[in-house]
Amino acid sequence: MAQYGLASYWDERYTRDSDFFDWYQKWEDLRCHISPFLEKPHKILNLGCGLSRMSESLFEDGYQNQTNIDISKAAIEKMSKHYKEKPSMEFRVMNALDMSAFPSETFDTVIDKGTMDAILCGESSTTNVAQLLKEVNRVLNRNGRYICITYGQPSFRLPYFERAELEWDVQHLSVPKPALKTTGKDK
Ligand SMILES: C[S@@+](CC[C@H](N)C(=O)[O-])C[C@H]1O[C@@H](n2cnc3c(N)ncnc32)[C@H](O)[C@@H]1O
Repeated sequence: MAQYGLASYWDERYTRDSDFFDWYQKWEDLRCHISPFLEKPHKILNLGCGLSRMSESLFEDGYQNQTNIDISKAAIEKMSKHYKEKPSMEFRVMNALDMSAFPSETFDTVIDKGTMDAILCGESSTTNVAQLLKEVNRVLNRNGRYICITYGQPSFRLPYFERAELEWDVQHLSVPKPALKTTGKDK
């Protein structure tokens, strides 16, 4: 799984299969958990958007002030082309470990669905995740929120967020897996 931290892995994957795909959960199943923390005018950064439909769903729900970044050029090229009619959905190739193109305190909310997990699967994961969270902290405004959707157990993930130098108030909630759809045959 070390390749999950590499741009080349994601570029190859997104070039081979360029269908839209959401890791873990779709926005429709996350909305009731996350929207209480969002406000329509919020400046939102979607960290490692991949080919997820979440940006579009957020846009349709009125969260239109959004920037989407990904380390994969292939993903960003596809997303930019697909959403070219929606200029307030910005897409940029960027490594989340170095977001120096964004001034400090640019965003109200950073949403990360699966990107910290991918970085944790790569090499130098502890150093890289510390750098990721340092950058997230820098680009968030003073009352900003980082919403991290992860498959990791709280005991493995919370220590990263609770590091003293971040000075974050950390809240955790578990989201059930989407219900398995039954077919007529199952009844
Ligand atoms: C597990 S996928 C999740 C994609 C999308 N967020 C979703 O929910 O379907 C992880 C994404 O993180 C991106 N990624 C990995 N490392 C990154 C980094 N250092 N900076 C920015 N994006 C990164 C990958 O290209 C990939 O699109």
